[in-house]
Order: sequence, then C-alpha cells, then structure tokens
Amino acid sequence: MQNLTRLTKKIYNSWIKSQAPTKKLTKLKKLDKYLILLVCIIFSMITSFELVTKPIHNLNFILSIIINFFEILICCLVLVYISKKDDPTINSRQIFLLIILLLIVQVLKINFKTISALPIIVPPTLILSQGMGTITALSWVSIALINWPNSPIGINEYLLLITFVASCIVAIFGGKIRSRAQLLQVSILVPLGAFIAQCLFLGIDNNDLYNFNLQNLILERGNIISDSFLLATLMLLAIILMPILESIFGLVTKARLLELADQEKPLLRRLSVEAPGTFEHTLLLCGLAEEATRMIGGNVDLVRTGALYHDIGKLHAPNWFIENQNGKNNPHDELDNPLESAKILQAHVDKGIQIARKYGLPKPIVNFIPEHQGTLKMGYFLSKAKEKDKNVSEKNFKYKGPIPQSKETAILMLADGCEAALRAMDINASDKEALKIISKIINFRIEDGQLLDSNFSRGEIYLIKISFLNVWKRVRHRRIQYPTEKNKSCP
Ligand SMILES: [Fe+2]
Ligand SMILES: [Fe+2]
Repeated sequence: MQNLTRLTKKIYNSWIKSQAPTKKLTKLKKLDKYLILLVCIIFSMITSFELVTKPIHNLNFILSIIINFFEILICCLVLVYISKKDDPTINSRQIFLLIILLLIVQVLKINFKTISALPIIVPPTLILSQGMGTITALSWVSIALINWPNSPIGINEYLLLITFVASCIVAIFGGKIRSRAQLLQVSILVPLGAFIAQCLFLGIDNNDLYNFNLQNLILERGNIISDSFLLATLMLLAIILMPILESIFGLVTKARLLELADQEKPLLRRLSVEAPGTFEHTLLLCGLAEEATRMIGGNVDLVRTGALYHDIGKLHAPNWFIENQNGKNNPHDELDNPLESAKILQAHVDKGIQIARKYGLPKPIVNFIPEHQGTLKMGYFLSKAKEKDKNVSEKNFKYKGPIPQSKETAILMLADGCEAALRAMDINASDKEALKIISKIINFRIEDGQLLDSNFSRGEIYLIKISFLNVWKRVRHRRIQYPTEKNKSCP
C-alpha cells in the first residue's frame, strides 16, 4: 500500500514538474485577451453561419447549431492554450496569426466547397511550424481539418489523409529547417510527394491533363495536377512572404536567426570595426554560450544570435570599455567619478536596446541586451565609490535588469561573467582550477538571485559548468592575458 502511495506521489510530482513552463510565461494584456476571445467567437459564428441560414426545423437543429458553435470555440481556445504551453513567450500578435489563418481556412472551405484541402492547409502549416514550432503547427492542422464540409462532388477521405500526412511532415520538418534553401526544397518535395500519393490512392486520368487550366487551378478539386501545382505555388508564396510575416507578427524563425548571425550584417561589421575588443569578447562568448545551450538542449541558434548582439550598446562609447582600450589611458580614471562611470555602464544596456530597435532586431534577441546584465552590481565602481563615501547607495551601482527570463539569456549572463575570468587565467592552470573559477562565478550569480526566473535544475547548472570548462580547454592555447582586476565583471 505504501509503495502504491509513493508511486502515486511520484507520478503526481512528475506531472506537476512537466506542467511548469521552461520559460517564464508572457502575460497577455487584458485588451489582447478580449480581442482574442472576440476573434474566436467570430470564427465560431462563421463556422455556424451555414447552419443558421437554413430554415429552422426543430429543437434538435437549434441544439446542433449551439453545439457546433461551442465545439469550434473550445477548439480555438485549446489551440491558444497549446501554443502558449509550447512557447510561453508567444505574443498576442502571433496568437492572432494562428486564429486568422484558421479563419481563412474556414471561410475558404465553407465558400468554395470544391476546393482541395491540400493547398489551403499545408502552406499555413509551413509558416506556423517555422515561426511557432512543431507542436503548435500540428495542433493547428488537427483543428483546421475538423468538420471538413461535404462537397457536392463527394469528399474523398484519401485526399484528407494525404493532406494530414503532408501537413504533419511539413510541421515536423518545418520546425527544424534552418535555411531558406531547405525551405525551397520542402516546397518542391512535399507537392511532388503529395502528387505521387494522389496518383497512387486516387488515380490519374487523361482528363486531369486535359482540364489543367488556370480556372481549375483554384476551383477544381478533382484535378490532382492542379492540386499539386497550386500547393507548390502557395508554399513558394509562403516562403516569399515569410520575412514580411516575421516582422509583422514578431516571428523568429531559425532561418531569420541564421541570417542575423551573419557577421557581414552592417551592425556586426560596425561592432568589429568600431569596438574590436568587444567583438572579440562576443565571439568567445558565443562559443561558451552555444556549447552550454547545446548541452542542456536549449535553442542554440537563438543564443548564438543573442550573444552576437548582446553588447552592441558599447558602440555608443567603445573606448570607455576596457577591452577596447588597447593599453591606452582609461577615461574612467580621468573622470574619477564612480557614479558617472556607473551611468556609462548602464548606458551600454539602454543604448543597446535603442540600437537594436533601430536595426529592427526581433524582441527575443533584444531581450538578451538587458537580461545578460540582470541586476548585477558594478563591483569595481561600487568599491571605488565606497572608498570615497561609505554610505553610498548600492542601488545606483546596479544594472536596472530585468534578471534573465529564459534559460538562453541566463546562459549568456553566466558565459559573460566567466569569459573574462577564463581569458585572464594562467596558461598553465589545471582543469580543476578553471572549474573552481567557473563554479565561483556561477554560484555568485545564483546566490545573488539572478537565476530565479530561469528554472535551471541542479543537473543543468552542472552541465553548464562542464561545457564552459570544455570550451576553455579548446581555446586556451590561443588565449590573451588580460589584466585580471579590471576584468572582474563585464562592463
Ligand atoms: Fe554587457
Ligand atoms: Fe559582454
């Protein structure tokens, strides 16, 4: 009996654990919540509209309308819930995109009863899987295919099955695709596969070839060549429209992340020319953060791109940061005003956010700028200020935050702290000594409460330490000796 209770408790605890989001949930604004509910209600009404327009026969008919309305409404709300669960950082614009695409499919399938499911379900799946992930895309497909209306020429179950399989393939691969070239391959191979599947299950006759014209392309469901051609065209159109959708709905696709990580991008070129020391620091940081994120199974593409842009705010005054001084005089010494120096350090966050917005960086990348510093103390200038006035307020020597809200931004904060210390380490230092330094820096940030919102497990913290050590071992042969004292914290 005791064993059974223990087992039940264990199952319950693991269920509770699985329910905890890996990232902090973004709260939707009240107005957005009402608007989303309104769009869901409109969507349900459109779906029930056909039933309403028919003459009312009896009570059962009215009941079926009500059931249909609530069925669709609940489906929409479930879709919103799944998308929030799959990606807790999803914003209201992206939820609108989900519902609007569902609405478009619904309007098309009600008004054009002869239209094939294939070209109207698969292209939106490609957009959603790229922008919001596989689970959300699969849920969207399931709901979009519910209640497919009977067409005058008779529904072919095989076609719905082919549509479902093609959509699932697109949803699964779409979530992993990392370049526009791979997207192009999918937009050719999936229609080709669908065409072969239709030939096998539905058969092809000479009429299909004879009837292949522009009008049939949109309206003729029975023509499998039209279906596949229209599917390929709409998938290509989806790929062309993807960058516009990315900026309108704030989608961050893997392809977009890879494009932003291109070091020939104007902003990164500016960083490498105007602040070469910061750029070097950024590159080593990328290696540390990437390895740690890979170890814990996080979003490597996101952390790489976030790391590249995390210190762009230093462009406002590169020579005020130690890594760009190249042995020349430190302007902070001439200024001799710790409070003003602290303001200059905070400015690298504030200006960074401004520059990022000016260059149109997506929000998940902008988040790396304030969160990599969190609410850390500017230790060096705080101790200088305390030398002058013991009662100085610590608040003025702390970054404004917020503390890291995701595992990726938290890893960047840890890597940022460790990078300078590892660079400054003796070339003959042992692995044990390096691990000790890494642990000290990471434990300090944990005790300081910087990782409270990033939900790391103990095992993940251990993996992060080990991965930093591994990167250090790889690069130590080409390390540069840095003055230890001045590099204690990343300004
Ligand atoms: Fe920084
Ligand atoms: Fe940094």
